[in-house]
Amino acid sequence: MCEPEWPRAGRERMILPQPIACCGSGVSNIEAESLARLDGRHVFMMGDNPALTRMPERPTLLDFFRLRFGGITARHLLASASRALDDGMEDKVVLACLLHDLSNACLIRSDHGYWSAQMIAPYVDEEVAWAVRYHQALRYFADESVGYAYPESYRRFFGEDYVPPDYIRRDAEGARAHRWYMTSRLVTINDLYFFEEGPKVDPQRFEDIIGRHFRQPDQGLGFDGSEVAHMWRTMIWPNNFL
Ligand SMILES: [Fe+2]
Ligand SMILES: [Fe+2]
Repeated sequence: MCEPEWPRAGRERMILPQPIACCGSGVSNIEAESLARLDGRHVFMMGDNPALTRMPERPTLLDFFRLRFGGITARHLLASASRALDDGMEDKVVLACLLHDLSNACLIRSDHGYWSAQMIAPYVDEEVAWAVRYHQALRYFADESVGYAYPESYRRFFGEDYVPPDYIRRDAEGARAHRWYMTSRLVTINDLYFFEEGPKVDPQRFEDIIGRHFRQPDQGLGFDGSEVAHMWRTMIWPNNFL
């Protein structure tokens, strides 16, 4: 089969880092100099980027795992869900573990539990999206009664004296009193950083659970006209200028 051409072949398609990546980070904002380079040979990146594997026309969740999610987050999600599956947890907990840090994999890290929950809400049971949303706040608060301690990794990430902000405390307190508390708490219990050790988990392992509990849109993620479709499209074309 002959591979279709990349968009606007022969021209240099310039990529600007996302504004949020430049804001306060020291990553230089090359907006002005890139605009100055625009001419017949230089345009901005739009559409498929040859540096990335082209996504199918109707991408599924597993396509995102295989073609877009990478590095530490992808391994972490697969390892967390595998552990939940090996421990005989319910499908909804396994699915929540598989998706809990979704936004970190290819979109945005800040407030990732909230972003990830929003991205999956149209496609999963409300309880799964709820568990993903609140794992973010619950991670900061130990619950010895179910064997969850404050993460050692957080001491290293943020320092011993880190105090989570009020909105996190408030959301954790609310979640603790909610009937779905344990679903979210089980996500945090499986939320371990086994980044380096262990065999690589094949995303295919979760095909059945995804098939049963993730309502894949026929048009593909990103193209179903849902209120979150643009978030999935941003992961398909993460370098688009607009
Ligand atoms: Fe998380
Ligand atoms: Fe996590």
